[in-house]
Amino acid sequence: MGDKSHCSVCGKAKEKRFINYANIEVYIECECERKCREEKEKADCEYARRTAVELRNKNSRLSLLGQKATFDRMNVDKYNEVAVRGGKYLLNQLLKNEEGVGKNSLVLQGNRGSGKTYIACAVINDFNSQNPVSDLRIRQILKERDSSYRKEEFSAVKSPCKFITEMDLFALYYENYNYCKTEGPLDEFKKAGKLLVVDDVGASNYEKKRVQAMYLNIIDYRYSQGLPLMLTTNLTKSELSDYLGDRSFDRLKACSYFVDLTSPESRRAG
Ligand SMILES: Nc1ncnc2c1ncn2[C@@H]1O[C@H](COP(=O)(O)OP(=O)(O)O)[C@@H](O)[C@H]1O
Ligand SMILES: [Mg+2]
Ligand SMILES: [Zn+2]
Repeated sequence: MGDKSHCSVCGKAKEKRFINYANIEVYIECECERKCREEKEKADCEYARRTAVELRNKNSRLSLLGQKATFDRMNVDKYNEVAVRGGKYLLNQLLKNEEGVGKNSLVLQGNRGSGKTYIACAVINDFNSQNPVSDLRIRQILKERDSSYRKEEFSAVKSPCKFITEMDLFALYYENYNYCKTEGPLDEFKKAGKLLVVDDVGASNYEKKRVQAMYLNIIDYRYSQGLPLMLTTNLTKSELSDYLGDRSFDRLKACSYFVDLTSPESRRAG
């Protein structure tokens, strides 16, 4: 099989050529070998792109369920159509890579099961899949695969969009606040370069003062830097204002579209 003089697919003798400047003889690749090689390269490239999106989603802290959310295969009805449009608008702003004028953030309100989290995840997932993958990354992923790394051991592919629930954000904020005021794990979220999604605002019953201090810190930072924010919540506008506090809510109002998706039924199947 190690015979280089014949095609490994069809068995025909291969054409030989002498390379003068290198002083070596080479065999010309047979047509079927070339096809094979190109097919393998194409499959490798697809694998690497798919994996890059998975790794970006992981870096975004998207759940496995969240990774399945996408605008392409989403059910749209009269309850969520405005929110879907809002999500797509936000996605396009993020992909355009330019600072938009006016409002850059989105607050999705509605009852449990109305599809708020799904839309928030779709923005991140679709952003991660539509952002091109560099050749360097593609080569690195293939190299790691070919060195039999497990997927969990692959090097991270960074995403500037982050997803976190209010509960996790609260834990992160108060675990790292005292001794890590400038740079800490919180910054991955607070300073996310494109989008921060905070899911289920108002779903916890932490001490009001601490909740409000946290939101003021984060909302004020993102607002002043012009960085987009997306919140999902079961609360109404006035409940949200009371929950976040006036100062945070004023900033939120200044930079956000509010969309209500309240629907009579949960979308949760079964
Ligand atoms: N537009 C949609 N198309 C298809 N499935 C959806 C859609 N919106 C929500 N779902 C599914 O319905 C369920 C509830 O949605 P979810 O986003 O968790 O609601 P909420 O965050 O408002 O409580 C999830 O299982 C989700 O995958
Ligand atoms: Mg939810
Ligand atoms: Zn051949």
